[in-house]
Amino acid sequence: MSRQIESVAVLGCGTMGSGIAAASAAAGCRVLMLDMSAEAVEHGLQAVAEADRHLVVAGTFDADLAKVSEYDWICEAIVEDLATKQQLFARVEPHRKEGSVISSNTSGIPLRDIAAGMPDRFRSDVAITHFFNPVQVMKLFELVPGEQTTPDVIEAFASFGAEQLGKGVVHAKDTVNFIGNRIGCYFMLSGLHLAKPFLADGMTQETVNAVLGRPVGLPPTGLYGLIDLIGLDVMDLVGKNLAVNLPEGDTGRRFTAFPDAEQRMLERGQLGRKSRSLGGFGRVQKLDDGTKKSETFDLVSEQWRDSVEPDLDGVPTELGSVLFDDSARGQLAWQIFGGTLRYAAGLVPEIADDVVNIDNAIRWGFNWALGPFEMIDAIGADRMIAKIRAEGAELPAMLQVLVDAGSSTFYRDGATGAREYLGSDGDWHPATAY
Ligand SMILES: NC(=O)c1ccc[n+]([C@@H]2O[C@H](COP(=O)([O-])OP(=O)(O)OC[C@H]3O[C@@H](n4cnc5c(N)ncnc54)[C@H](O)[C@@H]3O)[C@@H](O)[C@H]2O)c1
Repeated sequence: MSRQIESVAVLGCGTMGSGIAAASAAAGCRVLMLDMSAEAVEHGLQAVAEADRHLVVAGTFDADLAKVSEYDWICEAIVEDLATKQQLFARVEPHRKEGSVISSNTSGIPLRDIAAGMPDRFRSDVAITHFFNPVQVMKLFELVPGEQTTPDVIEAFASFGAEQLGKGVVHAKDTVNFIGNRIGCYFMLSGLHLAKPFLADGMTQETVNAVLGRPVGLPPTGLYGLIDLIGLDVMDLVGKNLAVNLPEGDTGRRFTAFPDAEQRMLERGQLGRKSRSLGGFGRVQKLDDGTKKSETFDLVSEQWRDSVEPDLDGVPTELGSVLFDDSARGQLAWQIFGGTLRYAAGLVPEIADDVVNIDNAIRWGFNWALGPFEMIDAIGADRMIAKIRAEGAELPAMLQVLVDAGSSTFYRDGATGAREYLGSDGDWHPATAY
């Protein structure tokens, strides 16, 4: 049976639900928006463009839940709490029409937990559809099937995501935080810890940010700017989820709790941009004369100070070369960014079947210039392997596959000129399907 999605019922109209509703209405779909109260829905409705509002029916869970029977896709985007999601799904399922599909936009709750105890029909029709914030801007759309989800359900989500919403579809597995956030949060949480000795030796946070920006193909927010954008409270929850759900032996387990100074920031409510004058790692102060001043929260002294210019003098400008630079800045880049590349190279096939899905997730979800494997190709896998071996460390799984396959890149132009990628099976596969 092939499934068609032409209408969407969004459950929960907060940040994400209202974004999903707005994007679906903009694509010309009929949309049902439900939330706990009429006020919550009214607030979410503001996200939908005026011109699309005629496509939207609004209501509450208590009064209007049965209306989901008129929609092809039921998309849950309520508060991140397993029991609350399970209760809502149990109420919705009896109303859902035959042939419809259903999903959760959870950031990290395993689908197997959400689907536990639900009827077979639900288990074969459900997936995780993970959008990134803001929904209408971010290209990444992660799709995660459950153990019983049928292929036509995933196909329906994939074609709706790509063709109607213009998203970049990535196929992920039911593992903690899926792909983008598993790797992106490793970068951030490990970065907070691994930067400490460099800060103690006098490197400024501005320089840390700058080294972890353009020289490695990341956005200028670098490390601290990115966490300020996301919020320390969100990162804290992510860390707690990782602490529970990361597999035994995963390198990320070392970094799930904040370092002490960052923990004290969290406790003070110094969470990032959302905390306005309390700030995060940085803040902008308005002076009496109307001008603005940027300040940095110095993690060593735990005091605010005027921001300073980063010191990138002498840092190689060629993309990724800083990883092999002997300076302290090179070592910082190698440990934090290089460490993230190594982490990613150890996660196939655990979190995704192939390198392509990981590269796409990181480019589309975190705006890196190149995904981790594309980056390793660009800097030279041989150089990276030599440096890892010189440290006496083991090669992560995909770098070992590369060595065993006698290749020096994860991508190549195949015989017909079409792009191919190296699979975890050691064979080359067409990358054209992506
Ligand atoms: N914000 C993000 O960056 C982001 C990104 C990807 C995924 N997510 C996930 O999307 C989901 C929604 O997140 P959000 O950021 O839109 O949250 P939000 O706080 O903006 O909205 C949550 C919605 O849930 C409703 N709600 C609260 N308690 C409820 C209850 N007991 N029963 C039913 N509904 C209830 C609220 O009325 C609100 O409309 C979460 O699972 C979250 O993890 C968030």
